[in-house]
Amino acid sequence: MNILLIGSGAREHAIARAIKKSKIHTSLFCFGSSSNPGIFALSTGYATGTLTAVNDILAYAQLNRIDWAIIGPEAPLAAGVVDALEDAGIPCVGPRKQLAQLESSKSFTRELMTKYNIPGCPKYTYFSSLEGVATFLSELGDAYVIKADGLMGGKGVKVAGDHLTSRYQAYDWCKELLHDGKTFLIEEKLVGQEFSFISLSDGNNLAHTICIQDHKRAYEGDTGPNTGGMGTYSDANHSLPFLESSNIAAAKHINALTAEALRQEFGMGYRGVLYGGFMATADGVKLIEYNARFGDPEAMNIFALLESDFVEACMATIEGRLTQNHMQFSHKASVCKYAVPNGYPDAPVANQLINVEAVMNPDALYFSAVDQKADGLYETGSRTIAVVGIADTILLAENSAEEEVRRIHGPLFHRADIGTKSLVDKRVQMMQDLRGTASVSQKIRIAVLGSTRGTSLQPVIDAIERGGLHGTIEVVISNNPNAYILQRAAHHSIPSMYIDGAGMTRDEYDQKIITELSNYQIDIILLIGYMRILSPSFVKAYSGKILNVHPSLLPKFAGGMDLNVHKAVIDAGETETGCTIHMVDEGVDTGKIVRQKKCGVSPLDTAESLKAKVQALEGEAFIEVIKYI
Ligand code: AMP
Ligand code: GLY
Repeated sequence: MNILLIGSGAREHAIARAIKKSKIHTSLFCFGSSSNPGIFALSTGYATGTLTAVNDILAYAQLNRIDWAIIGPEAPLAAGVVDALEDAGIPCVGPRKQLAQLESSKSFTRELMTKYNIPGCPKYTYFSSLEGVATFLSELGDAYVIKADGLMGGKGVKVAGDHLTSRYQAYDWCKELLHDGKTFLIEEKLVGQEFSFISLSDGNNLAHTICIQDHKRAYEGDTGPNTGGMGTYSDANHSLPFLESSNIAAAKHINALTAEALRQEFGMGYRGVLYGGFMATADGVKLIEYNARFGDPEAMNIFALLESDFVEACMATIEGRLTQNHMQFSHKASVCKYAVPNGYPDAPVANQLINVEAVMNPDALYFSAVDQKADGLYETGSRTIAVVGIADTILLAENSAEEEVRRIHGPLFHRADIGTKSLVDKRVQMMQDLRGTASVSQKIRIAVLGSTRGTSLQPVIDAIERGGLHGTIEVVISNNPNAYILQRAAHHSIPSMYIDGAGMTRDEYDQKIITELSNYQIDIILLIGYMRILSPSFVKAYSGKILNVHPSLLPKFAGGMDLNVHKAVIDAGETETGCTIHMVDEGVDTGKIVRQKKCGVSPLDTAESLKAKVQALEGEAFIEVIKYI
C-alpha cells in the first residue's frame, strides 16, 4: 500500500512513525516543504515543494501510484489539495476545500454554530465595515477579541487586555484590517483554561482522541509573544487536571454536532481530523476555533500514546466505518516540549548547527524545522525539535521530557515550566477560582434517563445554574428521539443523546447505556419519566445509585404510569397524594423509599390537575435528595 503524507514538520514525523508502526505493510511517500531527516528515514520516496502547489502534489501522487493520502498542515487543505487528489481517485484523510473552511474561515465556523444551534458559541458579530463596531465593542465592555477572517498563521487574533489596551486601539485595529482588505469577527472574550480535543471523522462517525493542553506563549509563566505552540501535556486518564468530566462530554458533543452540521450543510461528510480548540469556563465549555488537521504539538502526545493501528484507522476513515476502537490510547501521561531557536518567534537565529547525539532515546525526538547537511544537523529558524516524555503521571513525564530536551545542544531554548507541578497547579487553581468553589471535584455528578418532557428535571437544572445545588448534570439519555427532555438539556448545554434500541433485547440496550455512561464518572442516575424497566445487570452496575420518581405515595398505586396513576388516586377517593423518590431495585416501584412529598386531592381535581400538582413537587423532592446525598 502506497501512502502519501503531505507536510514535513514534527506533527508529520509523528504521523509517519504511526504509519510505519502499523502491522499493515506500507510504503510511505512524503511531499514536504523541507527535508525532514526523521520522515526521510521512514520513507520510500520524498519530494520537496510548495504545499499549496496542487498540481505538483497530484503529479507526485500519480507518479508513485498512491493509494491514499493524509494531509498534515492546513495550507494544502485550504488550497484544495484533497479535492484534486480525490477527483483523481486518490482518497484522503483530510477534508475537501469547502469543508476545510471550518479552519480557513472563522466567520464560517461561527455562522455554522449559530445556524445549527451548536452549544458553546460565544457572543460574536461579523463585520465587513465599521458600521456597528463601536456599539458592539461597548456592548462587550472590556472583554472582546478581534479575529481577522481567513488563515492568518496564528497571527490574526487580538485579545483585549493582551494585545489591545483600549477600545480606541481596538477600533483602529478594525480600521487597519478593513484597509488591508480583510473582514473580521468581534467576539466575547472567554476566560478560563484552553484545551484541545481532536476527533477523527469518517463523515458519519467520530473516533475521539484525548484532552491535551498546549502552551502558546513563547516564554515561561505564559509570557511573551504567541507561537505555534511551545509544548503540550496530557494525563493518564485522558482528561486534564482542571477539567470536569462534563467538560469532556461537552467537547465530544460539540465535535459530533459540528460534523453533523457540516454533513447537512454540504450534503457530504467531513472526512479527516476535527480539532476543537476549546475553553473551559465557569459557564461550561466554549469553542474558540476549529482546525481541520492534527495539532502541532498535540499530534506528538496523540501518537506517542496511540495503541491501535493508525493505518487501519485511516482506512476505516476513508471507507466510512470508523469506530472508537480504531483510536485506543494507553493510560499514560505525556509531556511534549519544543526546543526552538533563540529569538523565536519574532527574530529567530537560523541556520545554526545543533547536536542531538547526547539524547538517550531517539524515539522521543520529533524533527521539525531542521535541515540535515553533510556536516551535521541545522536548525532553520522555527520550532526545531519536539521531545516527548511518557510516564504514569504528568510530573514523571515532565521529568523525562525535560531531561531529554536539555540534551539537545545548540542556540535553542525551551519552556522548562510546561507540565511542572507548579504550572499545572496554577491551572487547576484558576479553574477552581473561576468556578467559585474549591471543591469542584466534590460536585455530585448526575446522569438522567427520560422518555418524555422531563418537566421535573427543570427545577434541578435551575437550582444548579443558580448555584443552589452543588452538582452537574453530565448527560441526559433518552430512548425516544423526540422526547423534549433532550431539547431541554440541549438548551442548557447539557450533553444529551438518543440511544436507539431497535431490535435489541433489554440487556443489550442497557449494556449500550452502561457503555455510554462509562464515559462519565456518575454519582447518581435520575430516572425522570423513563418508560423502560431496567435490566438486573444495569441495576447491579449502578447499585444504590439509581433514583426514580413515581407520581404517588408509594407503596400505594405502584406500577402505573403517568395519568393512569392520578386517575387511580381519584377513583380510590384518596384525599392525599404526592410523589415518591425511591431507589431502583430489580422490581417495579419496590425499591427503598428515600423521600415523599404530599399534596391534597380536592373533589374538583382531574387526573391532569393532579399531575400538575404532583409534578411541581417532584423537582423539589429531587433537589432535596441530591442535597442530602
Ligand atoms: P485562534 O487563532 O482562533 O487559534 O486564536 C488564537 C488564540 O487567541 C487562542 O488560542 C486563544 O488563546 C485566543 N482566543 C481566541 N478567541 C478567543 C476568545 N473568544 N476568548 C478568549 N481568547 C480567545
Ligand atoms: N497546537 C496549535 C495548533 O496546532 O494550531
